[in-house]
Amino acid sequence: MVAETEILAKAKATHTLAKEEIIALLSLPDARALFQTADEVRRQFVGDEVYLRGLIEFSNYCKNDCMYCGIRRSNLQAKRYRLSPQEIVKLAEKAAGYGYKTVVLQSGEDGWFSADKMADIVRQIKKMGLAVTLSLGEKTREEYALYRQAGADRYLLRIETTDKVLYEKLDPQMSWLNRARCLTDLKALGYEVGSGSLVGLPGQTAESLADDLLFFKQIPVDMAGIGPFIPHPHTPLANETTNGHFELALKMMAIMRLLLPDINIPATTAMETLHPQGRLLALQSGANVVMPNVTEGEPRKMYELYPGKICTSDTPEKCRYCIAGKIESIGRTVQMSYGFHGEYLKNKAQEK
Ligand code: SAM
Ligand code: FES
Repeated sequence: MVAETEILAKAKATHTLAKEEIIALLSLPDARALFQTADEVRRQFVGDEVYLRGLIEFSNYCKNDCMYCGIRRSNLQAKRYRLSPQEIVKLAEKAAGYGYKTVVLQSGEDGWFSADKMADIVRQIKKMGLAVTLSLGEKTREEYALYRQAGADRYLLRIETTDKVLYEKLDPQMSWLNRARCLTDLKALGYEVGSGSLVGLPGQTAESLADDLLFFKQIPVDMAGIGPFIPHPHTPLANETTNGHFELALKMMAIMRLLLPDINIPATTAMETLHPQGRLLALQSGANVVMPNVTEGEPRKMYELYPGKICTSDTPEKCRYCIAGKIESIGRTVQMSYGFHGEYLKNKAQEK
């Protein structure tokens, strides 16, 4: 097998890796050199700035039944909530007040929010000068087009896994091809497209994780949100483990940075659920974005995809300043700009 140092040197120089090389990196018992290389590439291509995005989780109603997800429709113990359009716009206004330049609107697949209603919400938020990221699940091309016309800038839809058989087993009544179709449509409509994987799913292999990364490179995505799977007690996967998921997700994220050096990669909240320093370690292994929660009160707790979600008792304002302090503690800076894909290199070129 080719030595780890050679694989890392190749990745750093060419931003390409063969599937076997990705598998070798994912299997490293000690991945410190991988994390360090990803950190160097991150610094070169996206700098030391960390972009903050305000996350609004506006509804936990969902028509889908993903086996891993705490808000799946069959979880009758989940307390459901749905914010009104006015409440969503109000939260966006507050997010702007905390200095965020992007809000991320996320929900289950909730039919109450018709495409027209959603487009109207986007239009109102765009008037505040914010960038809008949507994460509403699978929609038709026409619906995506409507949100885009209303001003939506980005769309986040994890493929979860590129293993079609595994996907369709864990996401019953859903089609992997349709999910992939969504990503193609979003790209064609001019969105900044985010995708990503859920790492540690039962039955997921290193081969399929390597395929995930090559799939993101092929699209190519503008953002990649990679997070560990954390079993929820009220789902069919309740008895699964979290062993090794944090380290594996960190490796996936680091390799993603090597393959797509200038994209936006969030340090996901789920990382910090599994490790007290999770987001900082992610930021030191390739990540450059954090998405603090700006949802308020009870809904903040009720959007429970997995147990142990962090900061549910904090206020959005506290989170904003807490995360900024953490970011600065590792020598990085908070950047309150739109943080579009490629922004850092573009600004650097203009400075010259
Ligand atoms: N409905 C939208 C969608 O399907 O993209 C957005 C909401 S969905 C809950 C957001 C993400 O939560 C999913 O893409 C999935 O990766 C993640 N997620 C769901 N259950 C999880 C779990 N048990 N552990 C960690 N992440 C989970
Ligand atoms: Fe729909 Fe999780 S099953 S958001």
